[in-house]
Amino acid sequence: MEVVPLAGAQQVATLAADVVEGVVRRRPDAVLGLATGSTPLPTYAELIRRHRDGTGPGYGRVRCFNLDEYVGLPAGHPESYRATIARELTDALGIPASRVHGPDPSPDRLATAGERYEAALQEAGGVDVQILGIGTDGHLAFNEPGSSLASLTRIKTLTEQTREDNARFFGSVEEVPQHVLTQGLGTILRARHLLLIATGEGKAEALAAAVEGPLSASCPASVLQLHPHVTVLADDGAAKLLARRDHYREVYDAKPAWQGL
Ligand code: PGA
Repeated sequence: MEVVPLAGAQQVATLAADVVEGVVRRRPDAVLGLATGSTPLPTYAELIRRHRDGTGPGYGRVRCFNLDEYVGLPAGHPESYRATIARELTDALGIPASRVHGPDPSPDRLATAGERYEAALQEAGGVDVQILGIGTDGHLAFNEPGSSLASLTRIKTLTEQTREDNARFFGSVEEVPQHVLTQGLGTILRARHLLLIATGEGKAEALAAAVEGPLSASCPASVLQLHPHVTVLADDGAAKLLARRDHYREVYDAKPAWQGL
């Protein structure tokens, strides 16, 4: 795992955008794994800015797969993750909705939603780079503490803490759906490159547990320790409790230029 402590959220966004663009330049038909939440928004804004400036790669052949989706929202709800990703990123990059996939929360097809999403991911050839945030409770996508480290896409119940964290996107905590469809931890591990971004002190405890704590379903993000290609970009606040923070920075500063992230 490569951990890169950075001074601020904009540096995180710049480097994360570099990684995503690098993948698309190397492979114009890349499969991008997209995350919602507040953390990736500066990265998405940076990608859009570069696209509009004409310095970004072409996204015409890219396909996208979202990490998760709420269950129980009316179709087209602005806080559904399908709508959020279109609004915050893919529409502005010119990626048509037909090339952006998410778990299907249709009420009458929920029982098969997980296996259908796994099949779609497989058919696309897997995810080249998966953007990830981390929950204050250590969740990865919507895999809450206790999730199987080998889990695949399925329905899950959110913790009260996550519903409270996400209440800011809704009118109140009661309006945050209780159920979600989420890629499993085993699904996420199949992506070829995992890019975890964490900003703000609120993430410091969860990030330290994920990166330096024991591998445990009690901290789902610790599953990253099993993956051969993980990049963690963290600002000062999120990196605050990392015991080896100075060493991670030395490693990054001494990195051979040819190596990339
Ligand atoms: P946030 O959410 O980016 O809104 O903090 C992260 C997550 O829940 O994974």
